[in-house]
Amino acid sequence: MVGVSAMGVVVLILLSLCCLISGKAAEFSEISQLLELKNAIVDHHNMLSTWKSSNPNHCSWFGITCNSHGMVSELRIPGGNFVHSGSCLSSKYSDLALHGSEIVRDCSSLKKGRFLGGKLSNVIGKFSELRVLSFPFNEFRGELPNGVWGLTKLEVIDIEGNSITANLSTINFNNLKNLQVFNLGFNKLFGEIPNSLSECEALSLLNLAGNQIEGYVPDFLGNFVKLKGINLSSNQFIGSLPDEFWNNCHVLEHVDFSSNFLTGKIPKSFGNCSNLRTMLLFSNGFSGVLPFELTNLQMLEVLDVSRNRISGILDEKLPVRCMRVFDVSRNLMFGSIPDFINPCHLNISRHSDPVAKYLSHLTYKTRVETRLPFSRFTPAMIHDFSDNNFTGPIPLLPMISRTGKKIDYAFLAGGNKLSSGLFRENPFKKLS
Ligand SMILES: *[C@@H]1O[C@H](CO)[C@@H](O)[C@H](O)[C@H]1NC(C)=O
Ligand SMILES: *[C@@H]1O[C@H](CO)[C@@H](O)[C@H](O)[C@H]1NC(C)=O
Ligand SMILES: *[C@@H]1O[C@H](CO)[C@@H](O)[C@H](O)[C@H]1NC(C)=O
Ligand SMILES: *[C@@H]1O[C@H](CO)[C@@H](O)[C@H](O)[C@H]1NC(C)=O
Ligand SMILES: *[C@@H]1O[C@H](CO)[C@@H](O)[C@H](O)[C@H]1NC(C)=O
Repeated sequence: MVGVSAMGVVVLILLSLCCLISGKAAEFSEISQLLELKNAIVDHHNMLSTWKSSNPNHCSWFGITCNSHGMVSELRIPGGNFVHSGSCLSSKYSDLALHGSEIVRDCSSLKKGRFLGGKLSNVIGKFSELRVLSFPFNEFRGELPNGVWGLTKLEVIDIEGNSITANLSTINFNNLKNLQVFNLGFNKLFGEIPNSLSECEALSLLNLAGNQIEGYVPDFLGNFVKLKGINLSSNQFIGSLPDEFWNNCHVLEHVDFSSNFLTGKIPKSFGNCSNLRTMLLFSNGFSGVLPFELTNLQMLEVLDVSRNRISGILDEKLPVRCMRVFDVSRNLMFGSIPDFINPCHLNISRHSDPVAKYLSHLTYKTRVETRLPFSRFTPAMIHDFSDNNFTGPIPLLPMISRTGKKIDYAFLAGGNKLSSGLFRENPFKKLS
């Protein structure tokens, strides 16, 4: 009996010794891999000064998070290089911008002008426990190393705003079943979206804006049930989207397909995306009418379909009164501008201070550009109907701020055939 248990102890000690050694070996190789990664990086701003062998606890190195076994699970080093990306700078929709691991990135913590350069070494493929690879707003150049696409545990790839060149068509996403964030916005990607991306069923954010991607927008993008945000803006996408494009979009909040070459009708299935807040389709070749189904979208804050070839009339049930930005300018719409009876006024009685300052900037004659008549930094409500073929009197629309704060409001309707100087009686005056 005694002999047996002594044997057991010996075996146990041997076992733990071997594991200790293999643990140390793993740690040692993690360290040498990190140093190899650093070797290919140009670090003018000395951001990786803690990455050195004399500092043996690699889990404490800048930008590194380890799992409980001392294996690198996160690499997060945001830079402050905004040369290629305007998305951290102020723009019309900057507060709605979707990027980063969170849907909305807080850019205020990023230090401007401090960033890494050089290349991402293929050694990255050896960090088998890596879940987060996040190097946004640096100056990494060249291809993304192939090793990345074999990292089966990856949940986040966020390399927005670098100078990565890659033919997207050649990337194989088959191993990235856990990918939730794929953000390569503002790089130098070309080629087409490959079919293998459809394997990434956990995808919640897809940002490919500001590249040179061409080809069609694949239908499978509308099947990702966890998709919250998609930004394909400023590429060379062509073709049209089928009416049933959005198949299961109940968590979808932000869609940006602006500045491409998309044609055909705006899919009716947008009306199924009940949590949609931002819908940016401007500067494309969309035609047909604004689908009636959009009247379902109670959460919609921003709808910009300007600079297309959309015709037809505006439905009075569109929730325009709730929208911070409603822009149908530079299209072929006609009929009168409705009072937009639905559905925002229904909530008036539920708020103590429901009606924000109603400041009507009727720039009917003077307005030429789509630029806001305010400072770019002032949150403004803007409803832009200009450069269409609208007729009839100009409605007075009482506006409701979601936050209850006072806001400036711009109503732009130049370049139409509105009967100047005539204001329709406002049917909701009593309510406000
Ligand atoms: C999409 O990306 C462009 C370019 O980065 C940016 O300007 C825009 O705000 C983004 N759209 C959304 C909805 O975040
Ligand atoms: C990208 O890769 C695809 C598939 O290999 C190829 O057909 C295409 O020509 C490539 N595109 C460019 C611009 O090199
Ligand atoms: C989407 O909405 C249309 C009507 O607009 C409806 O026929 C269809 O079943 C809906 N699809 C889903 C998946 O909810
Ligand atoms: C208006 O009220 C309805 C029902 O109470 C609610 O579901 C909806 O979200 C509200 N809309 C807004 C814009 O607050
Ligand atoms: C605008 O409407 C008028 C008739 O009211 C029509 O003759 C004209 O062709 C329309 N213009 C466009 C660009 O649709």
